[in-house]
Amino acid sequence: MSDEHASPADPGPPSALLAELTHRCPLRCPYCSNPLELERRSGELATADWMRVFDEAVALGIRHVHLSGGEPTARGDIAELIAHARTAGLYTNLITSGVLMNEGRLDGLIDAGLDHLQLSIQDIDAEGADRIAGLEGAHVRKLELARQVKQRGIGFTVNAVIHRHNIHNLERMIDFAVEMDAGRLEVAHVQYYGWALKNRAALIPTRAALDETTRIVSEAAERLKGRLAFDYVVPDYYARYPKPCMGGWARTGLNVTPSGKVLPCHAAETIAGLDFDNVRDRSLAEIWSSSPAFLAFRGTGWMEEPCRNCERREVDWGGCRCQAFAFTGRATATDPACSLSALHAEMVEIAERESAATSPDFAYRQF
Ligand code: SF4
Ligand code: FES
Repeated sequence: MSDEHASPADPGPPSALLAELTHRCPLRCPYCSNPLELERRSGELATADWMRVFDEAVALGIRHVHLSGGEPTARGDIAELIAHARTAGLYTNLITSGVLMNEGRLDGLIDAGLDHLQLSIQDIDAEGADRIAGLEGAHVRKLELARQVKQRGIGFTVNAVIHRHNIHNLERMIDFAVEMDAGRLEVAHVQYYGWALKNRAALIPTRAALDETTRIVSEAAERLKGRLAFDYVVPDYYARYPKPCMGGWARTGLNVTPSGKVLPCHAAETIAGLDFDNVRDRSLAEIWSSSPAFLAFRGTGWMEEPCRNCERREVDWGGCRCQAFAFTGRATATDPACSLSALHAEMVEIAERESAATSPDFAYRQF
């Protein structure tokens, strides 16, 4: 993004495209970021559509594509898509659960031009990890893939989604990332929309457990400086101010769903009343500049009090629209993660009550 012309209403071009190639996935994680209504294979964009989307992304100024899902390797054309994205000039990152990969497939993707692989782990013990993933044998396959990636030496990030069932193993997850020569570890506390909101009582940690992860991450980030970089995402139910979700609505990136809908954030479909343009009908550039869903909360003009006159309004951009909608039923409301929101105390009370109670069973993601 060029700061020269960036303004609240005109953020310049986006820097990254999240391409959700498919919602198909053998795992059933109860915090999946996909919508509750999953897209079927018959509705997915064809290979040629995705190739055109990548070309349009480059024309718009995008430099990074994150190939995601569901499980992106469930698509038989994944190598072709990587090759096209790479030739078009995009840095390619594959976000994968790893369970559909083997050595031959990995080499095929690297030959096609894959720059970086991001592997999710559900825990560090196989039993706990497979229970969260809802698939027996998943963890062993992930470990195997991590070893193969380590041998190949391509860019490698480990992604660990953290919640009350694996939070005690964080130090071992850090050791694993170091052992696998990952350059980056994402320690991402669950964010509560969609499937995760449905499972909040089963997932949300206590404030004390959250504080302990913060301590562990800052100590490890200092100790491992130059060797392992950290991305740390906290659940802002306990925060004083919300996170600047997505770097602000429609400011830094866009998301194309398996059927071609273009969203300002991966969870935007959880907000009722927004209509999304489709890459089958309009170009990415048109959608970025004028799609009603993108303009709805871009900048600061949509804000209500207390955001409207708050000195942090261009720091956190009012927090997260999806969280505001999930909690209040109105996407223009101040994110209740903010201590200035009238609903903040209620949010904290829910987090404290649910995290102190016995965890209910997971409601697993399913078609
Ligand atoms: Fe951010 Fe709005 Fe809270 Fe101010 S009032 S800190 S802009 S969420
Ligand atoms: Fe959609 Fe935060 S997840 S704006």
